[in-house]
Amino acid sequence: MKAFHRECGCLVALTNELNHEGYRMKRKVLLAAGALVVVLIAIQLVPVDRSNPPVVADFDGPAEVATVLRTSCYDCHSHETGWPWYSRVAPVSWLVAHDVEEARGRLNFSLWGSYDRKRQERLAEEIWEEVEKGEMPLPAYLLAHADARPDEADKATLRDWSGAARQAGSID
Ligand code: HEC
Repeated sequence: MKAFHRECGCLVALTNELNHEGYRMKRKVLLAAGALVVVLIAIQLVPVDRSNPPVVADFDGPAEVATVLRTSCYDCHSHETGWPWYSRVAPVSWLVAHDVEEARGRLNFSLWGSYDRKRQERLAEEIWEEVEKGEMPLPAYLLAHADARPDEADKATLRDWSGAARQAGSID
């Protein structure tokens, strides 16, 4: 005996009704997955700025400080970003590009030499504050870049350099 399925109105054998229910579920899941794939492909077409502009006036402090900053901070705070593969895949690429843009806007080691002395001193203080609190490098970044985590020696280097900058600032 056949009957119309109560929800979709399909003509199915009554003994088959359960199967038909399963089929409709599967179809819904497949349609949703297909739609998701289409959206994921479409958003790859949104342009993302991953440019590395020229280095204007690179950080010119002590070499050991420069090494720590290069290892732990330059991917976001300079024009020498090493764009990882996931920075090419939307929507993660949007977050990465946004972080880099914001980070460069606030503190850019590729422009360091063009900052006036007051700004350099203030930033030197903030650099240590952020690292001491564990807020920089961004914890999410460290998940994919374990090597960028400053160790105790790196931290001591930054702390001493920052302390010296603070003293220099308080003299005048
Ligand atoms: C993954 C990207 C990323 C890395 C790596 C990173 N930062 Fe940042 N940094 C940001 C972003 C984004 C901001 C701005 C938003 C915020 O303050 O959270 C910022 C803000 C800052 C500020 C605040 C500047 C201001 O004007 O308020 C300092 C200081 C800073 N970072 C220092 C560092 C230091 C030092 C390192 C390396 C030890 C580092 N950052 C590594 C992304 C990064």
